[in-house]
Amino acid sequence: MDRAHIEDDLDPSQTLFTEEQIQARLKEMAVQIQADYEGRDVLLVGVLKGAVMVMADLARSLDRHVEMDWMAVSSYGSGTKSSGVVRILKDLDADISGRDVLIVEDIIDTGLTLSWLVANLKSRKPASVEIATLLRKPDALQMEVDVKYVGFDIPNAFVVGYGLDYGERYRNLRCISTLAEHVYR
Ligand code: XMP
Ligand code: MG
Repeated sequence: MDRAHIEDDLDPSQTLFTEEQIQARLKEMAVQIQADYEGRDVLLVGVLKGAVMVMADLARSLDRHVEMDWMAVSSYGSGTKSSGVVRILKDLDADISGRDVLIVEDIIDTGLTLSWLVANLKSRKPASVEIATLLRKPDALQMEVDVKYVGFDIPNAFVVGYGLDYGERYRNLRCISTLAEHVYR
């Protein structure tokens, strides 16, 4: 059953991050990125669709020129479990050989998607590949993924909002939250 307001589907005790907290953290990350990439061109590679909001706000927090490109990969179905299979649904437009690439992600869970993606991009001989992710779950520590910029480490719960979806919904929430029990029933 559809409820009138998205907020009705959220767990009120579990708003992990408000819009203000997200924006403040992205600005801090942007300061660090700006310093690290001074004097170099940087190509931001967003991973569709979850990273759309992070890309929009992180890129606009940077007071410098950047290029943006997008990849779509699938590792998850419409539910909350990893399928373990990574497929390219949309590849980059840009040739990244010799370029400094910064992958922009919404969340690292098992790290499976990103470790695969990093290996794939490195095979194209870029000058460098680094990762910026807004969220990271503790499971990610089990995979060897070297993440240079992390917004927040979060508990091992399924979260939605700010690009993150459950069955393609909730991406348009400004906050990040867990879902109420009734949504899963
Ligand atoms: P792995 O496990 O490969 O997963 O690091 C990364 C991708 O899994 C999705 N994912 C989530 N999506 N809430 C979501 O909406 C979550 O809590 C969550 N955990 C993992 C996401 O697409 C991410 O890119
Ligand atoms: Mg994603």
